[in-house]
Amino acid sequence: MSASAMPPAAPGPRGDGHAGWVIDVRDLTKRYGDKVVVDKLAMQVGRGEIFGFLGPNGSGKTTSIRMMCGLLTPDGGSGTCLGYDILRESAQIKRRVGYMTQKFSYWDDLSIRENLDFVARVYGMPKRREAVDRALEELGLASRAQQLAGSLSGGWKQRLALAACLLHEPQLLLLDEPTAGVDPKARRDFWAQLHQLAARGISVLVSTHYMDEAERCHKLAYIAYGKLLAQGTAGEVVASQKLVTWSVLGEQLSALSDQLRGAPGVEQTVVFGSALHVTGHDEAALEATLRRVAGARHRLERIDTSLEDVFIHMMSRADDNMRAGKEAGR
Ligand SMILES: Nc1ncnc2c1ncn2[C@@H]1O[C@H](COP(=O)(O)OP(=O)(O)OP(=O)(O)O)[C@@H](O)[C@H]1O
Ligand SMILES: [Mg+2]
Repeated sequence: MSASAMPPAAPGPRGDGHAGWVIDVRDLTKRYGDKVVVDKLAMQVGRGEIFGFLGPNGSGKTTSIRMMCGLLTPDGGSGTCLGYDILRESAQIKRRVGYMTQKFSYWDDLSIRENLDFVARVYGMPKRREAVDRALEELGLASRAQQLAGSLSGGWKQRLALAACLLHEPQLLLLDEPTAGVDPKARRDFWAQLHQLAARGISVLVSTHYMDEAERCHKLAYIAYGKLLAQGTAGEVVASQKLVTWSVLGEQLSALSDQLRGAPGVEQTVVFGSALHVTGHDEAALEATLRRVAGARHRLERIDTSLEDVFIHMMSRADDNMRAGKEAGR
């Protein structure tokens, strides 16, 4: 099972001097050919923290995660993971980290117990039976221990992958889109599990595209085109963008959205169910436009800018910057 491709149990993290960060990297850079896919990334994850890693497809999340745990050598930058140098001490890091890859795999024709036992065996874990029993118990898998992995639903497969990551009692979990394609109930259970682990002092770096999951993280980072655009608590990330948002209720929101696009003060319009969210930086210009264009036929309400509004805004700004950069480079 590649989900836990990490060697067996190891003693705790190196005694500190690192301000308690389990991940502390700066200027992390990776190039493929002449394309910079991670660009001077700086990130700090605290002990016992659930840290969400967000960004559009291809923004560099997986590449960053692999550099942070010593699986991929950066072209530039430095840092520590669990107090160990990511460039020189990757073997130490690997022994203490549980990594669930984006496309984790397991053996369909082995049972849950056999899959876990196989992982434990591959890495020569001492007291294999105890470790497997503990993982089964902890993840609530014991009742299905004999079931073939191939016959499990998506949510149970996810749980099996998490159990495999936890077998060697890592202090840090790196989870790369662990709940992609899993139903809401199973995702909620998975997150309850993550919070229990965090409460025990296990740190979690988790990449996701789901907004409800982002809101469950203690801290967040958002990257686009390899560049970190924001980092902090959800509240801090929202506040950092200094955006003003109005909700517009009424008829024909799609036509209204077309009308508003490009008007003074309007930087973004997004339909959320029966409301149109209109966002911008220039408070006065935005309000004036809305009163002029939407005033009579629609109900206007100033609302708090949501995390999703902010992410959409950062993503489209990053797109614009890339395009401007490319045109300037021609
Ligand atoms: N081995 C490689 N060789 C060449 N390019 C690569 C390689 N690995 C990744 N890339 C490129 O680097 C960029 C970042 O990829 P990465 O997989 O880190 O993004 P991501 O944020 O994890 O995306 P997703 O949300 O789709 O998983 C992409 O443009 C990708 O095509
Ligand atoms: Mg990825």
